[in-house]
Amino acid sequence: MFTRDIGVDLGTANTLVCLKGKGIIMREPSVVAYDIRNDAVRAVGTEAKDMIGRTPGSIVAVRPLKDGVIADFDVTAAMLKRFVRQALKGSFFSRVRMVVCIPAGVTEVESRAVYDAAKVAGASDIDLVEEPMAAAVGAGLPVWDAAGCMVVDVGGGTSEVAVISLGDIVTAQSIRIAGDDLDEAIINYVKRKHNLLIGERTAEQIKIEIGSAKPFENETSIEIKGRNQVDGLPKTVTISSQEVRSAMSDPISQIIDTIRLTLEKTPPELAADIMDRGITMTGGGALLRGFAELIAEETGIPVTVAANPLDCVVLGTAKRLEPDSGFENYVFRRGKRFR
Ligand SMILES: Nc1ncnc2c1ncn2[C@@H]1O[C@H](COP(=O)(O)OP(=O)(O)OP(=O)(O)O)[C@@H](O)[C@H]1O
Ligand SMILES: [Mg+2]
Repeated sequence: MFTRDIGVDLGTANTLVCLKGKGIIMREPSVVAYDIRNDAVRAVGTEAKDMIGRTPGSIVAVRPLKDGVIADFDVTAAMLKRFVRQALKGSFFSRVRMVVCIPAGVTEVESRAVYDAAKVAGASDIDLVEEPMAAAVGAGLPVWDAAGCMVVDVGGGTSEVAVISLGDIVTAQSIRIAGDDLDEAIINYVKRKHNLLIGERTAEQIKIEIGSAKPFENETSIEIKGRNQVDGLPKTVTISSQEVRSAMSDPISQIIDTIRLTLEKTPPELAADIMDRGITMTGGGALLRGFAELIAEETGIPVTVAANPLDCVVLGTAKRLEPDSGFENYVFRRGKRFR
């Protein structure tokens, strides 16, 4: 009686929750602000993200996941618990069944941590699925066909590339280089080139506003504010879109190399299918200007960005909650161990 079935994308940057039959009911940054004197959680999500870099000594605002996996277990579990409570507020239930995603490249210890965090958050029945599989299903790819399709999910902490056929992953590569590393590359560049210290939120804003993977029409520049490394005083500098692109070129090449490596490991018949059907991109990183075009150029394969790339993974978990979706019978090898 009164079971709530939810799907959760516990991401490095964002956590999304969907409720069976209702669609997405929550989207929040994966951030927690807590008081270090008594470990009390002060805020989670957007409210906590606004506190990053602005807290007094007694409060810390942290992102408890790093590179797609749990870096701080207690804080992640507390965050997930809050999110689940917030998402299910006002509804009456006695049990929670939860489908949660984990990156394809995680170790057993790392996936066990996600399982345990879901337990602490109140789930009684936990089901782990691989993120690229959920991303492909959520993007609406024909994963059940006897033909290969390729999904590239670039999130905050991990980039995952997978070739799927007949409802399972044929080959997959996961690297811990993604959106966060683009931000970090911008921070380092601005420090080196302009002697300016900026925070991760400013770097992310720069990336989203003027960042690109390829030259584009109407290249622009923006003013950014930070702290002068030399005299410690506030300072404003102007940074161009060309500069931002060159700052991010290393991590971008590494993501593209991972796609190439996956293609090299793909059996020829499936590679031919991918040539025909193209590559589908999901995750927030897919929104980077010119990224899809650059991948298409570098691989010679057409690339499309899924509709609502940030939502694909959680929409995939929602499919898993639906009977007769095909995805409900999918067996994730490592997930079964914890039943
Ligand atoms: N318009 C945009 N241009 C470039 N990057 C963007 C844009 N919008 C969001 N991003 C980036 O996308 C990333 C977040 O994507 P997403 O929510 O898919 O990650 P996640 O699922 O939380 O992380 P992971 O899957 O690695 O655990 C962040 O690095 C964010 O800066
Ligand atoms: Mg993700």
